[in-house]
Amino acid sequence: MSHETGAPQKKLIQTLNGQAQDIAPIWLMRQAGRYLPEYRKTREAAGSFLDLCYTPELAEEVTLQPIRRFGLDASIVFSDILVVPDGLGQKVSFVEGEGPVLEPITSVGELAKLELERVVPHLAPVYETLRRLRKSLPVETTLIGFAGAPWTVATYMVGGRSTPDQGAAKAWAYRAPEEFQTLIDLLTEATILHLSEQVEAGAEVLQLFDTWAGSLSEAAFRRYALEPAKRIAGALKAKFPHVPMIGFPRGAGPMAKDYFRETGISGLSIDTGMSLDWARRELQPLGCLQGNLDPLLLVAGGTEMRRGIETVLKAFSGAPFIFNLGHGIVPQTPPEHVTELVDIVRGWRG
Ligand code: CP3
Repeated sequence: MSHETGAPQKKLIQTLNGQAQDIAPIWLMRQAGRYLPEYRKTREAAGSFLDLCYTPELAEEVTLQPIRRFGLDASIVFSDILVVPDGLGQKVSFVEGEGPVLEPITSVGELAKLELERVVPHLAPVYETLRRLRKSLPVETTLIGFAGAPWTVATYMVGGRSTPDQGAAKAWAYRAPEEFQTLIDLLTEATILHLSEQVEAGAEVLQLFDTWAGSLSEAAFRRYALEPAKRIAGALKAKFPHVPMIGFPRGAGPMAKDYFRETGISGLSIDTGMSLDWARRELQPLGCLQGNLDPLLLVAGGTEMRRGIETVLKAFSGAPFIFNLGHGIVPQTPPEHVTELVDIVRGWRG
């Protein structure tokens, strides 16, 4: 709201708008979660994982937990990328020790059961969580809304679970591209609705997670990852020109350059496998970069972690950069290592 009030812009938003900072803003993908004992406690009280996502006071609580502990620059609303298929009417559940389980959709006929009109009303609790967070977050903390990208969400909808090679979705995409495109188009529309509603509810920045973008061939990447991201970013930009979007096409390698340039997003989140040198040279001139510490270094801690953090800071300082991980925090992460990470980033002078 800073545009309307004339208040100074928050650090993370300034950075996304192209202003390099002396001290990089920092937040972490999956910053709320099982590595925090206070999360495990709230999670247990909620019952199921989706109950936690759909109970605004509990979702607000777990969103705030990492902010209280670490004073991060941004807070990502607690939810999941699979609330969109759930909203569309595909049954989704999270099974202990197994991850997400969905009734797989394998033919174009089954898509008729999905209802776009159901998404926003079904996800009302997520928007309520955002409204609460706008009131309860510290004034300097940026509130991030998010969604899964169509390709990644489709891999779960078609496979019915986490698939190591995204084989089921790929088989459909390569066998019957026109049919598969129907699903991608539906998800593109659903994602635009869901992200728009999050902005209306108070999200100041959006992130689009394409976790499995790296498993696609170049042509399929353009069609199922880049093109939908371009449509989503374009639609949001038209409605909300002041809300920056961050894209995370994980594993895209050199195709990340076209993705960054052609989608018109403000920030690119890079994964751990990305070459720092290449990213600095080829990607950072196109906009703000975010990343990319290996989440496993955060588990290890010690000298190797410190060295890893400094390597990332050295690579990207002096131009717009947000410190983050190359993928989400893993459950075995000691919370003290996160405290140390934040101290190192805030104390670093390049
Ligand atoms: O703190 C945050 O980052 C906000 C919340 C958030 C979650 N999931 C909570 C969650 C976000 C942004 C996500 C994104 C997400 N969800 C992605 C994209 C990013 C990535 O990590 O690649 C994907 C692929 C999913 C789908 C998903 N959700 C899977 C495969 C699983 C099971 C694996 C696992 O880690 O348990 C989930 C469950 C999930 N989503 C948990 C959390 C905290 C753990 C569930 C629990 O508490 O039991």
